[in-house]
Amino acid sequence: MKNIFITGCCGYIGSHTCIELLESSYEIVGLDNSSNSKREVLDKIKQITNKEITFYEGNMLDKVLLEKIFTENEVSLVIDFAAYKAVGDIDECYADSSLAEKELN
Ligand SMILES: NC(=O)c1ccc[n+]([C@@H]2O[C@H](COP(=O)([O-])OP(=O)(O)OC[C@H]3O[C@@H](n4cnc5c(N)ncnc54)[C@H](O)[C@@H]3O)[C@@H](O)[C@H]2O)c1
Repeated sequence: MKNIFITGCCGYIGSHTCIELLESSYEIVGLDNSSNSKREVLDKIKQITNKEITFYEGNMLDKVLLEKIFTENEVSLVIDFAAYKAVGDIDECYADSSLAEKELN
C-alpha cells in the first residue's frame, strides 16, 4: 500500500485530494498548520471515506517535524498543497513555499 504525504491536507484542494486517494485505497499522511483551515476537516474526511489519515499538525518549514514524519512513515510520494493563495500573502507565500520545497527535496 502506498503512503502519500499531503501538505495542506485540511485545505480546499488538499482535503478533496485526500478523499479521492483514500477512496482509491491509498494511505495518507497529512500535514497542516491550521493557518487557513480547521482540524474539523479531518472528521469530515473520515465521515465521507470511513478512513482516517495519519495527521501531523505543524508548519512544513519545521525541519525537525519533517524528519519525524519521514522517519515514522514510509512515504512514496509527496503532494504539496500548503500555501497561501491570497494576493496579499504572496510574498510570504513565495518565501515559505521556496524554503519548504527545499526541505522536502
Ligand atoms: N483553490 C483553487 O481553486 C486552486 C486552483 C489552482 C491552484 N491552487 C493552488 O493549490 C494550493 C492549495 O490551494 P487551496 O485552495 O487548497 O488553499 P487552502 O488555503 O484552502 O489550503 C492550503 C492549506 O495549507 C495550509 N498551510 C499553509 N501554509 C502552511 C505551512 N507553512 N505548513 C503547513 N500547512 C500550511 C493551510 O492551513 C491550508 O489548510 C495553492 O498553492 C493554490 O494556489 C488552488
